[in-house]
Amino acid sequence: MKYLLLNGPNLNLLGSREPEVYGHETLEDVEAKCRAWAGELGGTVEAVCSNHEGELIEAVHSARGRADGIVFNPGAYAHTSYALHDAVAAAGTPTVEIHISDVESREPWRRISRIGPACAHRIFGRGVEGYKWAIRHLHYRALHPPTTRAYGEDPDNVGDLRLPEAGRGGGPYPVAVLFHGGGWRRVITRDVMDGAAVDLARRGVATWNVEYRRIPPVGGWRAMLEDGTAAVDYLRELADEFPLDMERVTTVGHSAGGHVSFFASRESQVRPARFVPLASMLDLELSASSHRLGELVEKLLGGEEGTAFNDLNPTGLVPLGIPTVALHGTADQSVDVKQSRNYVRAAQEKGDQAEMMEIPGAEHGDFLEPNSTAWEAAAQQIINPPA
Ligand code: DQA
Repeated sequence: MKYLLLNGPNLNLLGSREPEVYGHETLEDVEAKCRAWAGELGGTVEAVCSNHEGELIEAVHSARGRADGIVFNPGAYAHTSYALHDAVAAAGTPTVEIHISDVESREPWRRISRIGPACAHRIFGRGVEGYKWAIRHLHYRALHPPTTRAYGEDPDNVGDLRLPEAGRGGGPYPVAVLFHGGGWRRVITRDVMDGAAVDLARRGVATWNVEYRRIPPVGGWRAMLEDGTAAVDYLRELADEFPLDMERVTTVGHSAGGHVSFFASRESQVRPARFVPLASMLDLELSASSHRLGELVEKLLGGEEGTAFNDLNPTGLVPLGIPTVALHGTADQSVDVKQSRNYVRAAQEKGDQAEMMEIPGAEHGDFLEPNSTAWEAAAQQIINPPA
């Protein structure tokens, strides 16, 4: 796969430009990293950087028929340039808009994206790592193109459906509903589950990789949990159109997505056959007492205490009534393996059929890597559930 890496105005100054916002890596560092990230997936990168709108337009045109995807940081032109929107739309080359900084939390004018509607995906606020996720998204999109559907009114009420043997009939297929993690924060989106989604689809499981509203705004947890439920419910509509086996639905969540999928599994009209949380934040008390996760829990609660806390703590809300296997790496530095242990113990005590599977030495992000032992163990649970 060949990617055009396109950086717009002022990005030539990366490294020295407002390092507190954009970090210390230079444009050269970013380009070298992108070559390495693409290389890991068997791809190559052609890098172009320009401060001129017309040159960027021409670079986008030049990708037509020559590149499989464009990783595009348009700088401030993202917020103003309809001409770049039109160039991306005209070129028809799948494009990911990427911003190093969290443009949604800065000046209001940076929240506007003129080119976004022409792009396949938008990534922001993940630092330079965002470029890696953009390359990965383009890679998996090309390997197995998704059908993107809206399950509700909000722009975040969308999901990507992938069927096994796309377009060749067959089925009905078992379905995995995938909930991404990211600490309920807006900077992480469903692209982080692309690798898992494609791997499962290639191995016979239809995947519905869903987005949902996240935090902020304050009090946003209600909307978030409503979205999770609506996303699972939407399977009924998808099943009218696609060969999905509604008796074999598995809800899968990674990290904070495991938390959201607990509620979606509980509230949905569709009864999942299994719940498979991966490295998940299932014990809110433990999260609240940890330094890093504690801040996220505070944001989740948005000043609400007491009832809200209890209403949001899966470990205190079992039994779920759905057979569960919780997978967790023993070397997870982000979400302690005790979170899954505590959940499973509580679920078993309350009569749930729940099992704990510890992956020795696995880290938090390993479940997002299709070639890892951790993901393989998870995939086996989803593909071949015990009868
Ligand atoms: C940027 C964000 C833009 O708002 C800004 O004008 C840039 C850089 C980013 O990568 O965060 O130049 O695209």
